[in-house]
Amino acid sequence: MSYVEAAGAPLRKTGHIKLHGPEGFAGMRKAGQLTAQALDLVHELVAPGVSTEAIDRLVFEFAMDHGALPATLMYRGYRKSTCTSINHVVCHGIPNDKPLREGDVVNVDVTLIVEGWYGDSSRMYPVGEIPRRAERLLDVTYESMMRGIAEVKPGRHVGDIGAAIQEFVEPFHMSVVRDFCGHGVGQIFHDEPNIVHVGRRGDGPELLPGMIFTIEPMINLGRPHVKVLSDGWTAVTRDRSLSAQFEHTVGVTETGCEIFTLSPKGYHKPIFSND
Ligand code: MF3
Ligand code: CO
Ligand code: CO
Repeated sequence: MSYVEAAGAPLRKTGHIKLHGPEGFAGMRKAGQLTAQALDLVHELVAPGVSTEAIDRLVFEFAMDHGALPATLMYRGYRKSTCTSINHVVCHGIPNDKPLREGDVVNVDVTLIVEGWYGDSSRMYPVGEIPRRAERLLDVTYESMMRGIAEVKPGRHVGDIGAAIQEFVEPFHMSVVRDFCGHGVGQIFHDEPNIVHVGRRGDGPELLPGMIFTIEPMINLGRPHVKVLSDGWTAVTRDRSLSAQFEHTVGVTETGCEIFTLSPKGYHKPIFSND
């Protein structure tokens, strides 16, 4: 291995999926729970008139107060502690000073590093009263993530997760984004394997106890196609249709899976009064 290769080696994907032991699961539990606590705080802040910059500041200060580091800060030139993706923004929206408006839906994506372990999770937040079609999108997106998670047990394959998500979403005439996927996570932010949110049962690597990864489907009301804006980050739907995303970090256990990023306060998904 040359010097240049050696320097990049810890960042490079090896094509093999790491299996974590009890210490890894303990580390991920701590990181996942702190991330979930941060998202619970966001739940209590979001309202019309609040800016995404204020959300970002809250998460940064919470991380600092708890000895954690936001993984996105200075990651590949990104300069914020969160991604905040409003309405037709699919993912990687950059927080700014513009106030949220009644009827918006915003995804807040947080990854906190605690003692070297990365807890990665995102949720959708309705801003005041939102249109019925937005409520339906949020419900379908949350349920699709949970159907993907329900596939996670030893003996299933990575493709089973995508298949479950795709089979659930498409009958609603909504679409699954192809251009971004879930990922292995642990002491590295983005590791093997890729978790694509569409697929065929039996495809891809077999799930084994000790694997840790995210499931983070992005679902659009319109077509699945996205484009990245000139800031180099913000991904939007090409047809400007509404997009939503939820994300959990999970670990494969002997019998099924553990969700590391469950909300301590039960703020798993928005509850709509007219349901
Ligand atoms: N948290 C995102 C994920 O789920 C990654 C954001 S990377 C950033 O993988 F640089 F855009 F912040
Ligand atoms: Co992720
Ligand atoms: Co994330």
